[in-house]
Amino acid sequence: MNDDDALLQAALAAREQAYAPYSRFAVGAALRDEQGRIHAGCNVENAAYPQGLCAEAVALGQLVVAGGRRVTAVAVVGDAAEPVTPCGGCRQKLREFGADETPVLCASTRGARLWTTLGELLPAGFGPTHLGRQDRP
Ligand code: THU
Repeated sequence: MNDDDALLQAALAAREQAYAPYSRFAVGAALRDEQGRIHAGCNVENAAYPQGLCAEAVALGQLVVAGGRRVTAVAVVGDAAEPVTPCGGCRQKLREFGADETPVLCASTRGARLWTTLGELLPAGFGPTHLGRQDRP
């Protein structure tokens, strides 16, 4: 299994755990960290709708609590005609730990794929360097 396949498999497995009773749109995400480890997440919705969490945000929490500080690759998957791309808020969240060149694999359970990068998804994004942080751990 190549690196992309492993990441996508982790995202697909996480998607199986999605708690999405309101939208019924299950999403899985997987992130690779600077040690090569994979961290996965699913969306976790809430009866108070805005309190729901995206799959990417849950995966990011898993990465950070495991001691990861860099996102080196991303996979996102849902069941749609088009590849599922990270929402705007998640692009910003991922940007904190990733780089413009960080690859993002957007996928559909129906087979559609889009290979892109964080920089393409969030051009000219606001980040730690704007706050004078050149020295991220
Ligand atoms: N969702 C994600 O988990 N990630 C995205 O990037 C797109 C949207 C979730 C949020 C909500 O639970 C459901 O998909 C429908 O918007």
